Amino acid sequence: MKKLNVAVIGCGGIANYAHLPNLVKLEQVNLIATCDIIEERAKQAASKFKVSRFFTDYKDVLELKDLDAVVVATPPDTHKEIAIEAMKSNKHVFLEKPLAATLEDAYEIYKQWKKSNVKFAVGFCLRHHGMFKYAKKLIEDNTIGEPVALWRVAIGTAIGVLPPVGWLVDKNKSGGMVVENTIHMIDSFIWFAGDITSALAKYKTERKGISIEDNAYIIFTHKNGAFSSVLQSWTATHTYESWGIVGKEGTVSVRGYVLGSMEVSSRNESSREVTIKEDPIVMYEKEMKDFVNSILDNKPTFASPLDGLKAMEAAVAAEKSSKEEKLINLPLIEY
Ligand SMILES: NC(=O)c1ccc[n+]([C@@H]2O[C@H](COP(=O)([O-])OP(=O)(O)OC[C@H]3O[C@@H](n4cnc5c(N)ncnc54)[C@H](O)[C@@H]3O)[C@@H](O)[C@H]2O)c1
Repeated sequence: MKKLNVAVIGCGGIANYAHLPNLVKLEQVNLIATCDIIEERAKQAASKFKVSRFFTDYKDVLELKDLDAVVVATPPDTHKEIAIEAMKSNKHVFLEKPLAATLEDAYEIYKQWKKSNVKFAVGFCLRHHGMFKYAKKLIEDNTIGEPVALWRVAIGTAIGVLPPVGWLVDKNKSGGMVVENTIHMIDSFIWFAGDITSALAKYKTERKGISIEDNAYIIFTHKNGAFSSVLQSWTATHTYESWGIVGKEGTVSVRGYVLGSMEVSSRNESSREVTIKEDPIVMYEKEMKDFVNSILDNKPTFASPLDGLKAMEAAVAAEKSSKEEKLINLPLIEY
């Protein structure tokens, strides 16, 4: 069996929680190097996951002769340089969302990918979550049918009520709450209902000393006429989450996000509870398996740089709408 030699660049939260342990579990993968600008993190990850080499400069990783692919889990403002250099070195890339911190950087990644001959997956893990996959199936098998209205309410955060300080609350590094976090749901909206054609939004920053928005309300319109909305707050004092889709034939609603209870109804069927209890780690396992298989079986990845770019474009249009106090039509760029 052909094995892939993979390195992980960025050994922080998501790499240690999901990508490093998941890569080690895959029998088609040899984890050959870890890298972090903080030497201790690269070294600790190498020791914990029994990897022989560790580095502090990603360029040294890309020079490894036997390397096939990189998993990049660094802050968004570093994505462009690392992803583009990896593609130029002919390495396959798994890049954490968002594609970049700005639309311009995201576009550069997309253009390099179009010129390259590598597999490239963007970490839109919700596409692998049981409840999100089930909702997609309900659209496709016409149980709920074509989406008409979609929503997400995200009050608080999955990791607690307020996000930590650091790069996440620095606009230049993260791109902001919507680009860094809401982007997951924006991608899901596009996955469920198709391309976004306009955005209308209001952003606010309540917390002192940060440069990102910490509250946002956005309404998108999709090409098929559907509209989707997100209300997200990182200043709430407790967590409240829900999402769902009203389709032409039925409705699916979830109390919660990746953990929660799902209710489905349609014109032919009264409301029923659907229980999909899936530890969030499972979606990360599946996305990594899919990335590896896309390389080994030469097939498209589950979420490409084009998907990453479309979600970025919608997020940036929302911010522009809030700033200019008007509806913003897409596309903002040519692709
Ligand atoms: N898919 C998800 O559910 C999910 C969850 C959390 C984070 N993320 C994304 O993953 C990425 C990383 O987030 P995190 O929470 O793990 O952040 P983190 O701060 O915990 O870890 C990032 C690591 O990257 C290192 N780093 C920074 N610049 C580097 C460089 N140039 N070369 C090598 N290492 C570098 C840092 O030292 C740090 O250890 C972000 O893009 C974030 O949006 C995705």
